[in-house]
Amino acid sequence: MAYQIRIKRQSAPDTKSYWQEFSYDGSADASVAAVLNELNGRMPLTDAFGNPAKPISWECGCMVRKCGACAMRINGVPRLACSVFLNTLKGTTVTLEPLSKFPLVKDLVVDRSILFENMKKIELWLKSDAYLAEYTHEARYQSARCLMCGCCLEVCPNFSAEGSFAGAIAPVNVYRILNEEQDHSHREELSAKYKAAFFDGCGKSLSCQDICPAHIPVEELTVRSNAAAIWRR
Ligand code: SF4
Ligand code: SF4
Ligand code: FES
Repeated sequence: MAYQIRIKRQSAPDTKSYWQEFSYDGSADASVAAVLNELNGRMPLTDAFGNPAKPISWECGCMVRKCGACAMRINGVPRLACSVFLNTLKGTTVTLEPLSKFPLVKDLVVDRSILFENMKKIELWLKSDAYLAEYTHEARYQSARCLMCGCCLEVCPNFSAEGSFAGAIAPVNVYRILNEEQDHSHREELSAKYKAAFFDGCGKSLSCQDICPAHIPVEELTVRSNAAAIWRR
């Protein structure tokens, strides 16, 4: 089946962006990631009008929705390129853009280090041996599934890479540590930092819940983290 792949391109953060269109005539079962691989494998790569094109920069690690690296805007929606298949999209034009809330590196690659910096600020680590209560196992497991892909931050009205609000990755990941940490003073510290980095700034619109490509129960983990950090202290 013939598709038009429109890609927003930019060779460096300080250069102008432009759109480039490519033709893809292949299986409709292909993922967007597979299409990008196919385009970059062409020798030479030319655009839909036969003009020479540079290889398309994008990131991937696992190709099976496990690493979060391939997050990008697909037809305007933040999704993982390896788990979006052409036959699930409307029409035959596919538009690819980098996530807009993070500093651009090149083409579809953005710098998501702010995610990890925010987790460091919250002190998201254990200072004691982990206490593993059986009754919280399922919720802790869901918490540990976060890919740190940034899709939830892309749709969050309160998150910006320059601001101090950490977004939904905070409640999703804090829940696990708050439950496993046995060092009382670190739990208190973590709770206070969580309150400042998330609880005080979240508008509870919950667009983060619907967009998560890993289908993590963001709302449930937010309620649980709020209860553990704020209400039960
Ligand atoms: S909660 Fe979901 S959308 Fe947000 S970073 Fe984790 S996996 Fe990605
Ligand atoms: S509930 Fe709304 S404000 Fe809070 S993290 Fe989710 S998208 Fe952002
Ligand atoms: S390449 Fe790992 S989630 Fe897509």
